[in-house]
Amino acid sequence: MTIRLRLTLLYSGILGLVLLLFGALLYNILHFYIYKELEHSLKEQTADLQENVNYKFRINSTGWSLSIKLDDFDTLQSGMYLQLINFTSGEIAKSINLNGVDLPFSTEGHDPNKGYFVTANIHNSPFYIYNDSLIINGTEVGILQAAYNISVISLFFSILKLVLVVLSVFVVSIASYLGWLVSKRALKPIYSLIRETELIQNSDDLARRIHYDNKHDEVGLLSKTMNGMLERIQMMYAVLDGSYITQRRFVADASHELRTPLTTINGNAEFLKKIWGTYLHNPSLIELKEIEISVEAIHDITDEAMKMGKLVNDLLILARTDAGLQIVRTEIELKPIVEAVVRKLQLIPKLIEWKMENLEMLDNLQVMGDKDYLQQLIFIILDNAFKFTENGLVELRVFKLADRVGLMIRDTGIGMDPNEIPHIFERFYRADSSRGITPGTGLGLSIAKWILDEHQGTVEVVSEKGIGTSISIYLPILNPESNKLD
Ligand SMILES: Nc1ncnc2c1ncn2[C@@H]1O[C@H](COP(=O)(O)OP(=O)(O)OP(=O)(O)O)[C@@H](O)[C@H]1O
Ligand SMILES: [Mg+2]
Repeated sequence: MTIRLRLTLLYSGILGLVLLLFGALLYNILHFYIYKELEHSLKEQTADLQENVNYKFRINSTGWSLSIKLDDFDTLQSGMYLQLINFTSGEIAKSINLNGVDLPFSTEGHDPNKGYFVTANIHNSPFYIYNDSLIINGTEVGILQAAYNISVISLFFSILKLVLVVLSVFVVSIASYLGWLVSKRALKPIYSLIRETELIQNSDDLARRIHYDNKHDEVGLLSKTMNGMLERIQMMYAVLDGSYITQRRFVADASHELRTPLTTINGNAEFLKKIWGTYLHNPSLIELKEIEISVEAIHDITDEAMKMGKLVNDLLILARTDAGLQIVRTEIELKPIVEAVVRKLQLIPKLIEWKMENLEMLDNLQVMGDKDYLQQLIFIILDNAFKFTENGLVELRVFKLADRVGLMIRDTGIGMDPNEIPHIFERFYRADSSRGITPGTGLGLSIAKWILDEHQGTVEVVSEKGIGTSISIYLPILNPESNKLD
């Protein structure tokens, strides 16, 4: 059922109900007052006559009888009929206007102690009759009846009933029709809203919005809400689209990065298979040079396998972060973590100078974190510093702020263009100067950034091409009070 039809039916129903109540009230009030007035007149009439009754007591051979006479009917009100029934003699006296017609009287349900009203049909006309007993010395001797022809009143009420019903039906019908027309007009904004949303539905343009002039009515507010919703959908779509493109690029880059070591491994393995396949039946023909080349090939294979291992490991971490992996953090001391990374670093052969500040400042300093991930974070940055520095030094400094601890790794390496710095945390991003020259896949810093974010840390990068780079990471201290600023 449409809202338009529902609205029309609703207010037609309400109007019909109101008219019904009004009609019933009017009918009953009129009925009550007219009959009350009539009853008053009938009672008044009999009361008047009671006073004019003459009684004569007669005794004869058959017994006794009472003669009851009404002195005169002068007090008879117009339209009233009177009748007196003498129970002792059986005589009936009546007003002239009754023209020999008897007013009916039944002893059934008769109550001598109080007057009562009955309705009777006389010659097809309804009469309203008041019966009032005549009592002498406590004995009921007769009955006095006052009647009124209520055919006009009955007709009036029949016509009133008909008029009320017909009028109500008429008014409700007209109101329903007008309501149907008016509701169409009232629902016009809704129809225009439907049209607007249909246009949006059929359009490919997500930037399309609902246009509605009256901003303050209900439909205006609804349009505003829907436009807000569309705005959000558009934004979410843009985000999803963006992450979809990123994901696609990530998969393409990952496959590309995996293909290079795989090709090398495959090439070297084919080469080994070819050489050693011929010597399988004649091992005496093996030459030293071929053994040397084979050892080189095996080295290449292990190198590439290691690179692949690292790459797969990095990809696995990033895939887990995409799946919503969260680092479980506990209260830990930072100093042993830095010391562990430095120890690991010392195992790697270095050609450049390595300088490290005294780590005393980190004594008893606690952070909320994961030991392994924090080691990985520091190692990624130190690894880069060594990788991108040919001459000079790499140094590690520690410093404390009010509620944070900072680790700065500075190098005098190749540095970067300022416009490259914002991108170095992106996956697979490698600055021009390092691409194809230094080994790597460009995943290290994106993993480092995720670890830092998980630890509510921040990072600052300062770099100048040909001069060097300094990367500072800041972590919130868990117990700033116990470690006053130095
Ligand atoms: N200390 C640095 N000096 C100069 N450039 C740097 C330095 N650290 C990072 N970069 C630049 O940022 C890029 C991204 O670094 P990231 O660690 O993510 O990748 P990568 O070191 O090239 O490869 P991976 O770490 O995955 O082996 C590097 O390729 C390099 O261009
Ligand atoms: Mg790196």
